[in-house]
Amino acid sequence: MDATRSSGSLVCVGLGMTLGAHLGPLARSHIEQADVVFAALSDGVVELWLNRMHADVRSLQPYYREGCSRMDTYWQMVGAMLAEVRAGKRVCGVFYGHPGVFAWVPHKAIEMARNEGYHAHMEPGVSAEDCLYADLGIDPGAYGCQHFEASQLLFYQRRIDPTAYLILWQVGVVGDQSMTRFSTNAAYRQVLVDVLARDYPLDHEVIIYRAATLPIERPRIERIALGVLAQAKIGMAETIVIPPARPMQADPEILARLNALDRAVGMPS
Ligand SMILES: C[S@@+](CC[C@H](N)C(=O)[O-])C[C@H]1O[C@@H](n2cnc3c(N)ncnc32)[C@H](O)[C@@H]1O
Repeated sequence: MDATRSSGSLVCVGLGMTLGAHLGPLARSHIEQADVVFAALSDGVVELWLNRMHADVRSLQPYYREGCSRMDTYWQMVGAMLAEVRAGKRVCGVFYGHPGVFAWVPHKAIEMARNEGYHAHMEPGVSAEDCLYADLGIDPGAYGCQHFEASQLLFYQRRIDPTAYLILWQVGVVGDQSMTRFSTNAAYRQVLVDVLARDYPLDHEVIIYRAATLPIERPRIERIALGVLAQAKIGMAETIVIPPARPMQADPEILARLNALDRAVGMPS
């Protein structure tokens, strides 16, 4: 017997980054078949486009208020979606990019709905990460790729691998401990530069990247030296990409072990 309740459900889908380009047929059908749609999108024009797909689209944007804790805002968003699930509705949460990438609300809403016995799941979308691999010609498999929320890199002692790509999210609010601000200034970004300078020379190239959200736009791809990152214009929709600074070092001990195994199974050397 299905342990989930018969009515009330939640699906969180991703609209992708660029209007009209990334929405998959499954996500579209979840939107069209929902009783109510909640939307957290990157752009007012994208929201208008979604409004044409469903008669009851409720924007989550008004919950954001400068000076209010983002955690309180996120809980209010989760509460708004869960209230409709509990009322027996098929609820679809639509988020820009991938709904599970640097996105607390969809994960928490799904977890809570499941804990309360409702059917809840996530459909993946095209994230900023996917777009930057295409726009910048980066294969994360070439040297490996670390992703960090920029503030987390400052608040905690993390280990950066400068032989891999480093991708930093939410640099526009880096260093905001209050979680109430929509931007932080150059002095905060300078702290980030100082932390990165432990692993990278100041003349190392960093890339400021913003994917196009409208089909008529071009992506922002700006290559600058790490040393001037603090002075750069970086908003809520920019991601910073730091290419490897050093070659990978071979591990002779492990290679010797693998060679011995190869010999044991008769592999030609
Ligand atoms: C809350 S996260 C949301 C990410 C989104 N769920 C996704 O799948 O890409 C916000 C961060 O995503 C990145 N981001 C948002 N819009 C972007 C864009 N148009 N281009 C590049 N990065 C973007 C920035 O690092 C920003 O601080």
